[in-house]
Amino acid sequence: MVNSHRKRILKVYLGFYCTAIILPKICICSQFSMPSSDQFNQDLGAFPAATNGEPFPWHELRLPNTAIPLHYDLLVHPNLTSLDFVASEKIEVLARDATQFIILHSKDLEIMNATLHSEEDLRYRKPGRKLDVLSYPAHEQIALLVPEKLTADLKYYVAIDFQGKVADGFEGFYKSTYRTLGGETRTIAVTDFEPTEARMAFPCFDEPLFKANFSIKIRRESRHIALSNMPKVKTIELEGGLLEDHFETTVKMSTYLVAYIVCDFKSVSGTSSSGVKVSIYASPDKWSQTHYALEASLKLLDFYESYFDINYPLPKLDLIAIPDFGAGAMENWGLITYRETSLLFDPKTSSAFDKLWVTRVIAHELAHQWFGNLVTMEWWNDIWLNEGFAKYMELVSLNATYPELQFDDYFLEVCFEVIKRDSLNASHPISNQAKTPTQIQEMFDTISYNKGACILNMLKDFLSEEKFRKGIIHYLKKFSYQNAKNDDLWSSMSNLLFQGEDEEVRDMMATWTLQKGIPLVVVEREGRSLRLRQERFLSGVFREDPAWRALQERYLWHIPLTYSTSSSDVIHRHILKSKTDILDLPESTSWVKFNVNSNGYYIVHYEGHGWDQLIQQLNQNHTLLRPKDRTGLIHDAFQLVSAGRLTLDKALDLTRYLQHETSSLALLKGLGYLELFYHMMDRRNISDVSENLKHYLLQYFKPVIDTQSWNDEGSVWDRMLRSTLLTLACDLNHTPCIRKATDLFSQWMESSGKLNIPTDVLKIVYSVGAQTTEGWNYLLEQYKLSMSGAEKNKILYALSTRKHQEKLMKLIELGMEGKIIKTQDLASLLHAIARNPKGQQLAWNFVRENWTHLLKKFGLGSFDMRIIISGTTSHFSSKDELQEVKLFFDSLKAQGLHLDIFQIVLETISKNIKWLEKNLPTLRTWLLART
Ligand code: BES
Ligand code: ZN
Repeated sequence: MVNSHRKRILKVYLGFYCTAIILPKICICSQFSMPSSDQFNQDLGAFPAATNGEPFPWHELRLPNTAIPLHYDLLVHPNLTSLDFVASEKIEVLARDATQFIILHSKDLEIMNATLHSEEDLRYRKPGRKLDVLSYPAHEQIALLVPEKLTADLKYYVAIDFQGKVADGFEGFYKSTYRTLGGETRTIAVTDFEPTEARMAFPCFDEPLFKANFSIKIRRESRHIALSNMPKVKTIELEGGLLEDHFETTVKMSTYLVAYIVCDFKSVSGTSSSGVKVSIYASPDKWSQTHYALEASLKLLDFYESYFDINYPLPKLDLIAIPDFGAGAMENWGLITYRETSLLFDPKTSSAFDKLWVTRVIAHELAHQWFGNLVTMEWWNDIWLNEGFAKYMELVSLNATYPELQFDDYFLEVCFEVIKRDSLNASHPISNQAKTPTQIQEMFDTISYNKGACILNMLKDFLSEEKFRKGIIHYLKKFSYQNAKNDDLWSSMSNLLFQGEDEEVRDMMATWTLQKGIPLVVVEREGRSLRLRQERFLSGVFREDPAWRALQERYLWHIPLTYSTSSSDVIHRHILKSKTDILDLPESTSWVKFNVNSNGYYIVHYEGHGWDQLIQQLNQNHTLLRPKDRTGLIHDAFQLVSAGRLTLDKALDLTRYLQHETSSLALLKGLGYLELFYHMMDRRNISDVSENLKHYLLQYFKPVIDTQSWNDEGSVWDRMLRSTLLTLACDLNHTPCIRKATDLFSQWMESSGKLNIPTDVLKIVYSVGAQTTEGWNYLLEQYKLSMSGAEKNKILYALSTRKHQEKLMKLIELGMEGKIIKTQDLASLLHAIARNPKGQQLAWNFVRENWTHLLKKFGLGSFDMRIIISGTTSHFSSKDELQEVKLFFDSLKAQGLHLDIFQIVLETISKNIKWLEKNLPTLRTWLLART
């Protein structure tokens, strides 16, 4: 039996092989450039084995392009009690070549039945032909074997009946639960597909290039509602009281954007200027927290429609807060899913920072409705075309719609965050190879997001806002409902530019997207002459290290430099395309500052007296430099210390002007570095330095700490500064801070949690309160009861600052159990515990000892797993710790588990070790002279 089957399959392949070579190839869609099945068939010996032992007719991870999907009819019937679902689908496919098999993605699904109809079969109502199905789980693929080969250019209909489990975890079609005010636990079912999990919910061509239309039907009980990408057309009543909702057919889109949800949520709705119905959904008791999101999404939708000059193409847009969510949010077309804390706003417990976050996430996912949904990257190597743009559009849209949130200033942090990563050798180019699902997941990192956004911001600054906008409109219009790659973006931009300028943009942007790392521009001034030199900036590798030279080879950027001088406010521009260059200043000046407003993605080092001249200016009158320039100087100075290019005392001297600093942005940057050093000393128990640093911080920043009020007044930056300063003061045991927080905490407990504490100091008050057993236990009780995600986050953080290991262990146990502390919050909990000097060893040991459990919960490449790994290790700064971490990673690699984050963590720890070796004595002496 097995033998005859095998023979049949071989005949099928050989038949295919012949026709594939003999028939000329007809290319229907020029966008498809994936491996074709011909390639495979030339290597007949290379069949992997399917689960039943038969040869599986495809060996690539990417699907063949011989049959492409046009339309899916999908019916799903989940049972929220037994937690399984039955489903069926009919996929209309176009045969682009003669083929005898169709390869689809499918993961953890049980295929019951598969049949094939040709158009002729349907026309004459002929029965379908039953298909043999082979399964190859290693590639998450199934093969449908067609009895007679499909004819090129004809359409076919593949019908599949299948079933599966409503998954645990956060991927595919999964279960989420929530607690009502009355204490009842309710279950809902929700999808999350990006990047490669649609295949867990229905067999499909699960690659972004295979765009199709989807007609979705969902069966549900009457106590539930069903939502999907499109509005509901009708509901049919079935036998036994079941209801079947039919949704309108979608526009042409990728599988990862499909979504459906069965729940019992409530909503608020409004209509955008162009008539789109926008609704915000949340569990019934959280309905009151949805209003801000509605206001923001309506405003942002209006903004994007006019900014892109393209209307949102669907009749409705739902935004829904899911109680269990792996990422922060997901941009499913027409049905955007959010973690509760990324969508809901509770005026009583959400801080200024929380409001900024919610607005940013809404802006980000709405931007994806164009960047990502309307125009999609061809393959995941270019995920930055989705994520970098969405992150960049947060800046553009918030500047226009919520200028009072002052996100423009905060954007600098977006770039500073990625510079940390990109200045390690373990970084990667924005556009990078990705093959396996894990590698694809790993592409969703700060390089794709933040660096993508930062180089777009740099390009906008270079081209002008108007030209840049025209370029992206052209790109969006040209590639609507299609896919694009890196180069298509630059061509679209270039089209609108003058001759010469177009090539300049293309060449320039290639150096930022195809090459990893960040450049260092070294400036040396001799009179009016500026000598410029570019290098690859590497933190943790010094110029005198033997490895340095080899790490520099073949790196060259086209850097759109900007600079201003002490003589005028004019912004000068120059593109540095070579390793060295010389510039002549129009007039003599006392200082030169490069990278105006920190819009460029590069670090600047001023050789000779350059830094001294700038420090002198900051001390004399810092307002002659722009706030973002002052912030950039602080950033660059401390980065240069990490690279061994500037001495720590010089960078510390630069912060001495901060006492007079009026910009919260600059103040927070300087304070941030000092705080970082304090925590490093505290963790390592280098108590003489940590004590002196503590005294220095409290003494030096006393005037600004003491003027902070304990309320929510002021601009967003006033409020963020307040939160940071008071957190620091209480962290450092500053008596007035502890007294005030203790007082507020007691009043709060006495009021049985009813007292409204100002939101910006809430976390501080809880953290101080958590230091007693009574306070800690009370907070945990409130955690169980709270209906506000914003408050729960603050309580959990406070609980994690307790200095007792048993309490910290208790939290980890609750997080592992997933009932009181949800699994979705476990990664940030472990990260928070690892920040606590009393918890760092505990968290790290826990991760090592429970690796298999954690892996099962989150999956190797997930956001959570990467946060757990880096959050519990990258602060280490000793050789022993480095060795421990290395051993652990080696043991994982030996099991075939590999992540880029391993190397990033190892390089980060090495960098910390080196920093301490070089700078600890300097820090010690510098402080001694000042305390
Ligand atoms: N498309 C992503 C969601 C996602 C992340 C899918 C990782 C697959 C893997 C979404 O648009 C996103 O970027 N979400 C962010 C929040 C955003 C405000 C930066 C997230 O989840 O962190
Ligand atoms: Zn995104």
